[in-house]
Amino acid sequence: MSRGRMTSKASLSCLVLLFLLASGCAEHQPAPGMSGVTPVHLPDVRTPIPLEADARQEHRAVMLQHLETIQAIVAALADEDYRLAQGLTETHLGFFMHRHAMARQQPENFPPAYHDLAMAHHEAAEKLADVMPTKDLKRILPEFNNVLKACVACHLEYRLRHS
Ligand code: HEC
Repeated sequence: MSRGRMTSKASLSCLVLLFLLASGCAEHQPAPGMSGVTPVHLPDVRTPIPLEADARQEHRAVMLQHLETIQAIVAALADEDYRLAQGLTETHLGFFMHRHAMARQQPENFPPAYHDLAMAHHEAAEKLADVMPTKDLKRILPEFNNVLKACVACHLEYRLRHS
């Protein structure tokens, strides 16, 4: 295996690891902006979004699908299937997904700042989809990072009200 290729694989592994760490910590209070991982011992100051049971269920299904999509995209990149990676990104994380999700989730119950974070996330996904055809991980990974940053940013700000 060439050195460049090993480096790419190593970068991908790091990406997955970072994502797992970030999503694992999302339940806990943020120490925003820093390069490290959010500490887990601080109080939860996320803003709760009150949703009815159905909408909560729907929101959760979308989130679980987001995570699965990330996994599938990483798998496609590891296989060097950039077309598949692009299709998954566009279909499951882009604006199409947003419209689909909003149609089923009582959008009026989400604060405007939540919508901004959601839009930033979809925009990052569209940018990621756009660079996939370059087949250049040096261009793809920074955009992928921006998508994951958008996931983390929202998880640090909001939670659904659990009652
Ligand atoms: C605009 C806000 C927002 C964005 C963007 C976002 N999420 Fe979420 N996500 C949430 C909220 C709110 C919850 C509920 C957290 C809670 O109540 O503790 C959640 C929960 C989750 C959960 C837990 C689901 C469960 O089983 O309860 C996963 C997994 C998840 N998100 C994955 C992702 C991934 C992956 C991305 C990015 C590709 C992402 N999310 C982007 C807001 C967001």
